[in-house]
Amino acid sequence: MRKIAAGNWKMNGTSSNLSEITLLADRHPKSDVEILICPPATLLGNASRLPGSITIGAQNCHTSQSGAHTGEISAQMIAELGAKYVIIGHSERRANNGETDNIVKKKAMVVQKEGLTPIVCIGESLKQRENGQTIAIIKEQLNGSLSSDAAKSPIVIAYEPVWAIGTGHIPSMSEISKVHEFCRKQLQKRFGDIAVRIPLLYGGSVKGSNAAEIFALKNVNGALVGGASLKADDFSQIVKALEDA
Ligand code: 13P
Repeated sequence: MRKIAAGNWKMNGTSSNLSEITLLADRHPKSDVEILICPPATLLGNASRLPGSITIGAQNCHTSQSGAHTGEISAQMIAELGAKYVIIGHSERRANNGETDNIVKKKAMVVQKEGLTPIVCIGESLKQRENGQTIAIIKEQLNGSLSSDAAKSPIVIAYEPVWAIGTGHIPSMSEISKVHEFCRKQLQKRFGDIAVRIPLLYGGSVKGSNAAEIFALKNVNGALVGGASLKADDFSQIVKALEDA
């Protein structure tokens, strides 16, 4: 399985920031890691046309291919712009845009139908963790966000504890290990042997300084990175750690 270093720029970046992608490509001209940048939708077309090895992805799409949905963007439109992945069900969208597991499942299906790869995000809140519900929440989100055909086309799962996002706090290595192992087993139970090929990413305050120990964990196949993906200098350290893992 090819490891993935994915950067989620969230609502950051205008055309002047495209140079960071070029810089990143220059730093990693031939990588065995899939280096993915998910810029805002406005930059998808220009980012996809840049020379170099960086793959481009989107951060969201609608559940429908077209129709009366003012302001929305479909997977088909994203594909036309040259993007290859779509982040689906990020906790910020689950919290701020009312995205339920069922909506996430529909989005993942429409993304796969377009030949793109969904990165389905799951993760517990601080309260859920403190109440000892982490594994139960992960199980519920994993089952509810994936259709019965989900493993028939490429798909990626990103475990992002909500409380670790943008806070500088990360779970202990054994906690990350435990969740990733649970995800792998759960996926195998549901989809069979094919599930060993589903990349499992960790996300939440990944930085150059903690990347190596996270990537050394079994069942961690890469990272979904927010803040530290905005600058090529920072993200490159994470990519390097994954290349060396
Ligand atoms: P940070 O890396 O800034 O914590 O963000 C993680 C994230 O939400 C990536 O999708």
